[in-house]
Amino acid sequence: MWEQVSTRSRKSFWMSLKLFSYLCAIHATTQGLANNQRKVLTIGGLYASGAMTTWQNGSGIVKTVNEAIRFINERSQLLPGYKLEIEWRDTKCQLGHGVQALFKHVNEPPTKIMLLGGMCSAATRPIAECSHLMNLIQVSYGASSFYLSDKEKYPLFFRTIPPEKGHNAGRLAVLKYFKWNRIAIVTEREPYYEAAFTSLTKLLKENDITIVADEFLGESKEEEHESPIKILKDRDARVIVGLFSEEKAVEVFCQAYKQGLYGEKYVWLLIGWYRPRWWEIHSARASKLDCKTEHVTEAFGNYISTEFLKIGPSSPDIIGGEKAYLTWKNKVDELGFYSGFAHDAIVAMTLALNSSAEVLARRNQSLADFTYNNTEMAQLFKNSLSKVTFPGFSGRVYFNKQGERKGVVTVSQMQDKETKILGNYTVLKDKLVLKSSKFVWKGGNIPVDQMTTVDKLLKISPGLFGFFCAVEVLGIIMAVAFLAFNICHSDHRFIKMSSPRINNVIVVGAILIYIAGILLGIDGNFVSPDVEAIVRCRFSTWVACLGFTLGFGGMFLKTWRVHKIFLNRTKKMVISDFQLFAMLGLFISIDLLILMVWEIVDPLYITKHYTGREEYSPSTDTKYKPYYIDCTSSYTSLWLGVIYAYKGLMLAFGAFMAWETRNVTFSALNDSRYIGISVYNVVFPCALGMTVVNVVINRDACFAVLSVLVVFCTTITLCLVFVPKISTVRADPLGTNRPRFAAAAALNNQTPQTRPEERQQLRTEPNRELNPSTRPKQEDRQRANTNLI
Ligand SMILES: *[C@@H]1O[C@H](CO)[C@@H](O)[C@H](O)[C@H]1NC(C)=O
Ligand SMILES: *[C@@H]1O[C@H](CO)[C@@H](O)[C@H](O)[C@H]1NC(C)=O
Ligand SMILES: *[C@@H]1O[C@H](CO)[C@@H](O)[C@H](O)[C@H]1NC(C)=O
Ligand SMILES: *[C@@H]1O[C@H](CO)[C@@H](O)[C@H](O)[C@H]1NC(C)=O
Ligand SMILES: *[C@@H]1O[C@H](CO)[C@@H](O)[C@H](O)[C@H]1NC(C)=O
Repeated sequence: MWEQVSTRSRKSFWMSLKLFSYLCAIHATTQGLANNQRKVLTIGGLYASGAMTTWQNGSGIVKTVNEAIRFINERSQLLPGYKLEIEWRDTKCQLGHGVQALFKHVNEPPTKIMLLGGMCSAATRPIAECSHLMNLIQVSYGASSFYLSDKEKYPLFFRTIPPEKGHNAGRLAVLKYFKWNRIAIVTEREPYYEAAFTSLTKLLKENDITIVADEFLGESKEEEHESPIKILKDRDARVIVGLFSEEKAVEVFCQAYKQGLYGEKYVWLLIGWYRPRWWEIHSARASKLDCKTEHVTEAFGNYISTEFLKIGPSSPDIIGGEKAYLTWKNKVDELGFYSGFAHDAIVAMTLALNSSAEVLARRNQSLADFTYNNTEMAQLFKNSLSKVTFPGFSGRVYFNKQGERKGVVTVSQMQDKETKILGNYTVLKDKLVLKSSKFVWKGGNIPVDQMTTVDKLLKISPGLFGFFCAVEVLGIIMAVAFLAFNICHSDHRFIKMSSPRINNVIVVGAILIYIAGILLGIDGNFVSPDVEAIVRCRFSTWVACLGFTLGFGGMFLKTWRVHKIFLNRTKKMVISDFQLFAMLGLFISIDLLILMVWEIVDPLYITKHYTGREEYSPSTDTKYKPYYIDCTSSYTSLWLGVIYAYKGLMLAFGAFMAWETRNVTFSALNDSRYIGISVYNVVFPCALGMTVVNVVINRDACFAVLSVLVVFCTTITLCLVFVPKISTVRADPLGTNRPRFAAAAALNNQTPQTRPEERQQLRTEPNRELNPSTRPKQEDRQRANTNLI
């Protein structure tokens, strides 16, 4: 009975077991069929939340991507036979959490076919370094760091967010467009901005754009933003690239306002993704720094901003549907603009998988066969992804060989507190399109990158030159008059006795010195620097040297002859005019020799000599650098030394002769007193004048001092030589008087006070060694008469 029951129940047990297994089998079959129809592909999603992600909305990204996956799974043309799923993990924008997220993705089933993310470069870099070892394609939507462009290190890394490098190329294009070659950069101390800074400086250097200042903004302490701005001002930065957040921007512009670094001369290039009216959002920060929002807006002026196109144009071909696109666009402020890049990343992955699936199907393989050791499939995915192109939420998506998105940079300008999009830059084609007429500039013109620097030649004021020129011309006329007088009256006994031919030479010398004086004033007012080098530097030196030798040389030789006649009583010295001219010729030859050697070996040339006192004209924004033209040669002081020594010797010789013959009383013969005065007149003012000229750099003062020297020395000397003669000839036009009396008469006429003294000298000769007595004097006279006439 029990047995019966037990067999029956056993039977029914087996029956039910059979039924169960049958049901199970049916179930399994249907399951298998379902799986055959739609194999699940799981994507490893990476997002970020937490304190370090305030600049982007992680949940907005997750929401947008989930929406996109739902849409993809609904489409029969997208991944037919597969069902896309995503598993999200949080990287918290930190290296450690990022690596942990990768471990979990890899270690926990199901097998992930690709990775989507991450959001920040800090977490994405270590993940990308490992993911390719597991043959995982990684498509980031948020990591724009330029480090990730390294294909050697990150071979399977792609990104839909355009890298910072491309953004900098846009900035560079704008700088070049406006011809700004001298800029400053202000960077916030934060990895994102610092990375942008690094790649920007590299790019600028490659393109020969000078960075006059690169300043970093310190940590949150407001006072610290003062000095970077000060440095910008000191270095006269006009075009400033700002790589900082909105919050810092408020502080920077507040400082800029306080320091006066604003206005028509300055232009800022900022990051374009600041929120509309961002300065109002952060007005609390501004007021903490005693700034009003008006100050901030005043300081940033019409700044230019560049940013990647984040919201592409609407198009019916958008994958995900135009309706979805419009919905997303309306909510983009809430979702964050990275959500657009994330959406495009998942679409790009889908399309790559779709085309890979076709290839695999031909090999009797399926996407679901992917394992972490399947290098072949990873390469297939990589190739497919490289070829993907489609219109996405963030504009057209395609990748270059490095797996980078070469996007479009939009260029905008802040006008009336509104951002106006005025152009775009296509990174791939390196093409900038700007509506330049729509840009607004405070000063009316595009600001320049630096003040214009103009060299300003210091010239002698024309009035001063005119005055001295006139004086010197008068001097020449006077000299010519003396010459004429000398020639006309050469038969006059008194003149005859005064070596008229040597006197003519003296006059010619004086005329040459006057001419040299005029040549000194021939500067940039009249001629080009090349001509100036010849006229003012070289020619005037020759003229002055020869003039001096002729003038003073002649005078001293005359005294030398007197000296020889009167003081060498032992033998009769007869020195003819010929001998004197031969001596003069020797002097001149020495001059010519020195000058010629100078001219050949080391000729004078002009150099620009900047005075260092720069003037700034605010109205034209121009800096004037005054300079004057200096005559120099390699060894100027050596040459001048030789010439000065030679002339000095001549002067010393003259002075000595004048002293020796001071008591020869023939006024017709003896110019010794006048020569003494002349030497005095030349040496002291010249020494003084040269000192002044070397110290004073003012062109006018120099010229005036030199001209006064020329006019004063030459005129006094000339007058000392000729005026007594003229008065003598006047008093005695026929030359009947003996020279002695003529001299006496002249003295009588001119300076009656000196007459008794003179007479006494003539009559009662004191017993001086050098003094000839009355008797020899007769002899002297005779000798003089025979020798000179
Ligand atoms: C982020 O996105 C989520 C989902 O759309 C939204 O609810 C939230 O308000 C957003 N947060 C911010 C700060 O915009
Ligand atoms: C995806 O692949 C299927 C065939 O596997 C093809 O028919 C479809 O057009 C593809 N979709 C796209 C968007 O390329
Ligand atoms: C794929 O499978 C089919 C049928 O199972 C077979 O006929 C074909 O030869 C296979 N192709 C390859 C490339 O293995
Ligand atoms: C991957 O590893 C598994 C087991 O370790 C092995 O069976 C398979 O053949 C490998 N696949 C490839 C593509 O190397
Ligand atoms: C760039 O600007 C030009 C002129 O405004 C426009 O025609 C073009 O479509 C823009 N390109 C992109 C990619 O937005």
